[in-house]
Amino acid sequence: MSHTYSKQRPSTIQKLFNAIAPTYDRTNAILSFQLHRLWNRQLIKRTFNPDDPGAFLDLCCGTGAIGLGHLSQTTTPTKAYLLDFSEGMLSIAKQRASALKLERHDIAYIQADAQQIPLPDASVKYATIAYGIRNVQSPKACIEEAFRVLSPGGTFAILELTQPSNPLLRFLHQIHLKYLLPLLGKLSTHNKEAYQYLSSSIKSFTPPKELQLLLYGAGFKQIKITSLCGGIATILLGTKPQT
Ligand SMILES: C[S@@+](CC[C@H](N)C(=O)[O-])C[C@H]1O[C@@H](n2cnc3c(N)ncnc32)[C@H](O)[C@@H]1O
Repeated sequence: MSHTYSKQRPSTIQKLFNAIAPTYDRTNAILSFQLHRLWNRQLIKRTFNPDDPGAFLDLCCGTGAIGLGHLSQTTTPTKAYLLDFSEGMLSIAKQRASALKLERHDIAYIQADAQQIPLPDASVKYATIAYGIRNVQSPKACIEEAFRVLSPGGTFAILELTQPSNPLLRFLHQIHLKYLLPLLGKLSTHNKEAYQYLSSSIKSFTPPKELQLLLYGAGFKQIKITSLCGGIATILLGTKPQT
């Protein structure tokens, strides 16, 4: 069954995203009933301060929904690092950037592991990771790396699909994950296994309160958790202290 994909074997996850890259955006829109657009907008709004522009890093950037979404709303020329280990996803991000006409910005595409970021310490003001951390082998290592590359006072934001706490909503959500998501994923991509994995990864992922502890453990302060749509998605924001 879906044992083909496991985050304990990162090369299988890389393979998964390379395989679904061409249909990723369309399938995402179907699976989330377009809610992901709302959540992405919330993430961008809560993370970036327009009065304090600066370089940013979008980890697990995929096709660039967050990084390019932010750049398209920003007039100040900005240095952006879009990092992902899937060549297929990065290549779609590049096509998307040229369609969006973002020449005023300086965008670097980095094919790398989010647990070993090839950037110097304190090199960005903002870092984001959307729907990515649950696929990373060690969320702790990824959070520590984000802390390292942020400058003091910088903001780190995580957006992830989570499980609602209300019992009725949780029950409906389980049905969606177990039956609807793999089925719709299969219809859109002909790759049922990939969507079975993505669905099971939501169920098995660390709850927001535990992620918050990892953020504290890495050194982040002023951590805020925002539950979206009854907890189907969650945003965590943390600040790297000045000293
Ligand atoms: C569900 S997609 C999310 C993409 C994008 N952030 C978005 O909002 O649509 C997850 C992305 O994380 C990437 N990814 C997973 N594990 C990774 C890792 N260890 N290092 C770098 N990228 C990784 C995948 O290649 C994929 O593009």
